[in-house]
Amino acid sequence: MEPVLATGAFCGRLEEGMNRKGILLAGGTGTRLWPLTRAVSKQLLPLYDKPMVYYPLSVLMLAGMREILLISTPQDLPLFKLLLGDGQSLGLKLSYAEQAKPEGLAQAYQIGAKFVGTDPSCLILGDNFFYGAELGKLLASAQAREKGATIFAYQVADPSSYGVLTFDKRNRITSIEEKPAKPKSHWANCGLYFYDGRAVEFARGLKPSARGELEITDLSRCYMKDQSLHGERFGRGSAWLDTGTADGLLQAAQFVQTVQTRTGMLLGSPEEVAFRQGWIGAKELGELAEAIGKNAYAETLRQMAAEGKR
Ligand code: DAU
Repeated sequence: MEPVLATGAFCGRLEEGMNRKGILLAGGTGTRLWPLTRAVSKQLLPLYDKPMVYYPLSVLMLAGMREILLISTPQDLPLFKLLLGDGQSLGLKLSYAEQAKPEGLAQAYQIGAKFVGTDPSCLILGDNFFYGAELGKLLASAQAREKGATIFAYQVADPSSYGVLTFDKRNRITSIEEKPAKPKSHWANCGLYFYDGRAVEFARGLKPSARGELEITDLSRCYMKDQSLHGERFGRGSAWLDTGTADGLLQAAQFVQTVQTRTGMLLGSPEEVAFRQGWIGAKELGELAEAIGKNAYAETLRQMAAEGKR
C-alpha cells in the first residue's frame, strides 16, 4: 500500500540552513491508555482531525528541521512509514529506526547515534502538543543557539509526573528532577530538547536510573554541569497539553477543534508548514490535498494552495 501522503511530488534542497537533525520519539507501550493503545501506537491516535504525531512533526518543521529520524517500536514502525513515507512530498528527508524496548528517552541518542553524529539536534516526544504565538520565536532562538542546549518549561498545577525545573533570579536552570515526590517548582520540563553536537557522546556515558531507564533529564544535566543549559519558559499565552490520559487526549482534541473551527486555520498540519516554509509550492500542496480527498482538512489545504500565499 502506498503511503497516504507521499505523492513523490517535489523535494526542495535539503542543504539549506543549519544542519540540525530532528528526532521524533514515538515508541513506548502506552499502557496508561490501554485498551486504547493495546493494538495501535499512542502517537497514531487521533487528535481531532489528524494523527497525534502530526503535531510534534509540525513543531520540528516549524523550527526548520528537514532531516528527521522517527523512532518507534518494531510493531508500530511500519504504520508510521505508511502514514509519512520518506517525507519527500513534504520537502523532508524522513528516516526510521526501531527501539526494541522502551528503555528511556535518552536512548534515542544511542539509537540515532549514526544519524545525528556530531551535528546539533532537536528531540521531540511524539505525544507532546504545543500551541502559542510565542512558539515560533522560542524555536528560532533555540535553533540559532549553536553551543549548549535549550530545554523548555511550562507551568502546570501538578508537576509531580514530569521532569521539574528550578530557575535562579538570572533565569538560569538550577535543578532538574525527574518526577519528584515533592516538586520544588511548578515548572514542568516539556518534551522538546535542543542539544549541540555533544549529545551522542553524553548519551553514551549515561547509566540507567533507579527505574531502569536512560533518563533525558540526565542528558540535560550533562549540559547543566557544563554550564551550557539554557531554559525557556512558556508564558500564559501558550498551551502545552498532556495527551497521556483519556481525559488529556479528549481535552487536547477539543482544544484543536475549538481553535480550528473558530479561526478556520489548521493546528499541527505538516502540509501547511511545508508550504509556509517554502519547501513545497502551491501546486504540490494542492496535490497533497487531492491525495487526502474530500474532507474539511483537505479543503483548508486546497484553499491555502488556491490563495497561493505563505
Ligand atoms: O512530556 C514531558 C515529560 O516526558 C518530561 O517532563 C519528563 O522529564 C520525561 O521523562 C518524560 O516523562 P514521561 O513520564 O511523559 O515519559 P514517558 O515514559 O511517558 O514517555 C514519553 C513518551 O515517549 C511516550 O509517548 C512514550 C515515549 N517513549 C518513552 C520511553 C520511556 C519512547 O518512545 N521510548 C521510551 O523508551
